[in-house]
Amino acid sequence: MHDLRSVAMALRTARGVVVLTGAGVSVESGLRPFRGADGWWKGHDPTVLATPEAFAADPALVSEWYDTRRLAALAAQPNAAHRAISRLERHLVGAGGRFALLTQNVDDLHRRAGSEHVVELHGNITVWRDHRSGRKVTPEPVPFTAYPQPGPDGGWLRPDVVWFGEVLPTAAWNAAEAALSWCDMLLVVGTSSVVFPAAGLVERAAAAGAVTVEVNVEATYARVEHRLVGPAGEVLPRLLDEAFGNAPRG
Ligand code: OAD
Repeated sequence: MHDLRSVAMALRTARGVVVLTGAGVSVESGLRPFRGADGWWKGHDPTVLATPEAFAADPALVSEWYDTRRLAALAAQPNAAHRAISRLERHLVGAGGRFALLTQNVDDLHRRAGSEHVVELHGNITVWRDHRSGRKVTPEPVPFTAYPQPGPDGGWLRPDVVWFGEVLPTAAWNAAEAALSWCDMLLVVGTSSVVFPAAGLVERAAAAGAVTVEVNVEATYARVEHRLVGPAGEVLPRLLDEAFGNAPRG
C-alpha cells in the first residue's frame, strides 16, 4: 500500500508515461500466459512451438496451436487492466502529456479496450501471412479448414508474430527506443521480463532517469524501483484512482 501511494504521487506529476505489457495483462481475460504450467498446450512447451524451427518441422502442429490462440483472443474480452491502461492514456494525453503502450502481446486486446498509441513489439495474431511471399491476410474469425492452412501465394499461412530467433519489427522497436527519451515513468505490467530485447527496456529507462514500477502477481527479476504485487486488473484501477481520483471510467 505504501508503494501504491508513492507510485501514485509520481504518476500524478509524470509528463511522459510508458507502459510495457506482457501475457499476464490478459490472464484475467482468460488467455494463457507463456511460461509456467498454464502455458503448455497438449504437452508442448510454447517457448519451443513459437520458433521458425518448430514451424519448419511441423507446420500443422504450430498452425493449430496459433489458430487455437487466435480464436481464444478473438473470443476474449478486454479486462479491467486493459481498460485502466487506456484510461491512463486518455488522461495523460488530455492533460497535454505523452504516452506510449509497448506490448509483447499479440492478442489485440489493448486496442479493443480503446488504447490508441499501441506499439506491438511481437506482432498481432489476428493477422497471418504467406510464409513464402510474406503477403498478409486477416482470416475470418472461424477455425481454419486445414492445418497448415494454404496461403495466397503457394506457401503456408503463418501468424504475423515474432518468433524466438526472429527480429522485432523495425518501426515498433524504433518507437520503443524513442519513447525512452521522454519517459518519466515506466510501468511494467504482467511480464516475466525474461525475453529480450523487450526486457532490456526496463534498465534503459531507469538509466535515463525514469521511475520504474512493476505490476505483477509476483516479483520478477526485473530491476525496478517499485513493485506493486497483485493482479493487474485490481492494482491498476486502484493506482489510477489514487493518482487521479475515481472519476467515471468511460
Ligand atoms: P510470461 O508468460 O513469460 O509471463 C507472464 C507474467 O505475468 C508472469 O510474470 C506472471 O507472474 C504475470 N501474471 C500472471 N497473471 C497476472 C495478473 N493477473 N496480473 C499481473 N501479472 C500477472 O509472458 P511474457 O512476459 O509476456 O514472445 O512473455 C514474453 C514473451 O515470451 C512473449 O511475448 C512471447 C513469449 O515467448 C514471443 O512469442 C516472441
